[in-house]
Amino acid sequence: MAKVAILTSGGDAPGMNACLRACVRYAIYKDLDVYGVERGYKGLIDNKLTYMNSRSVSDIVHRGGTILRSARCPEFTDTEFQHQAADTLKAYGIENLIVIGGDGSFRGAKDLCDNCGVNVIGIPGTIDNDLAYTDYTLGFDSAVNTVLWAINALRDTMNSHDRVSLLEVMGRNCGDIALYSAVAGGVEYVLTPEVPYDLDEICASIKFSQKRGKTSNMIILAEGAGNKEEICAKIKEKTGISVKTTTLGHIQRGGSPSMADRVLAAKFAVRAVDLILQKQTNRVVGIKNNKIIDRDISEALAEKHSFDEDLYRVANVLSL
Ligand code: ADP
Ligand code: F6P
Repeated sequence: MAKVAILTSGGDAPGMNACLRACVRYAIYKDLDVYGVERGYKGLIDNKLTYMNSRSVSDIVHRGGTILRSARCPEFTDTEFQHQAADTLKAYGIENLIVIGGDGSFRGAKDLCDNCGVNVIGIPGTIDNDLAYTDYTLGFDSAVNTVLWAINALRDTMNSHDRVSLLEVMGRNCGDIALYSAVAGGVEYVLTPEVPYDLDEICASIKFSQKRGKTSNMIILAEGAGNKEEICAKIKEKTGISVKTTTLGHIQRGGSPSMADRVLAAKFAVRAVDLILQKQTNRVVGIKNNKIIDRDISEALAEKHSFDEDLYRVANVLSL
């Protein structure tokens, strides 16, 4: 029977467990033997593999995090460790590996294929939504829903006190979490790394809106778009207003995955296992225009993320 190992790597994301469950059960249904690898590439190097059956993934479809655990494993960029990982798979007679993770994890998967001959398939799992070849990554929708919960809660108290609030969200160098949360949450100002912003203009707009009787203003700041202390200091200097800041942090990475992420997880898993059965390798799955797709890893990684500037304009118009 052909064998497949599965690992989760890099920053965890809601939906990784749902995806693991779907990979395991669909692979077993297709007569593959399945192994789970603990803590990403580190577990491959350290020989931490467990045989999985359908019951190994019971009761996890709704859970955040990853039961396989995840890790950053910087030494994996070194080919010596990549060969060590490939030797582990060889010792178990495993020819195929499914990697659920972000762009860094995909680079590791590509190296395992190119340098060591392992058949790899990548599934995009990261809250950042920073992989250009796919419209959505697993975990993004859930993270944005968590941000929306925070926006609603903040809005309640900011309204009561006529305050200005700044909410910093994750995303590394990608502004998608900030942008989608701003549109869905009706946030007044959104600052992302992709679009330059003018703080003087924002200060003037806040002052003007207060004159018009607006009771609260919210700024959503993508973590890669500037320093929140500096931004608040500037607003204080220009308007005299003390901005209340909140950093949502790792709350965005946890929690029960949304319906959208659970369904996407199942669809990604089925395509990934089907690719293995078709003996394809060095490919990543994704979703484009609502259709599940797969692409060569190198091509996928070479694509530059295109920020949705139309949606950015909409965010600004709707908050006027
Ligand atoms: P993500 O997969 O979420 O982008 P990281 O960038 O931390 O997260 O990458 C996860 C892991 O993938 C790293 O800890 C490392 O083990 C591996 N990795 C990252 N970049 C490379 C690379 N250029 N070559 C080989 N392995 C890599
Ligand atoms: O890639 C996911 C992510 O949560 C980013 O949004 C964030 O910049 C980073 O990981 C945080 O990493 P760590 O959990 O290692 O602090």
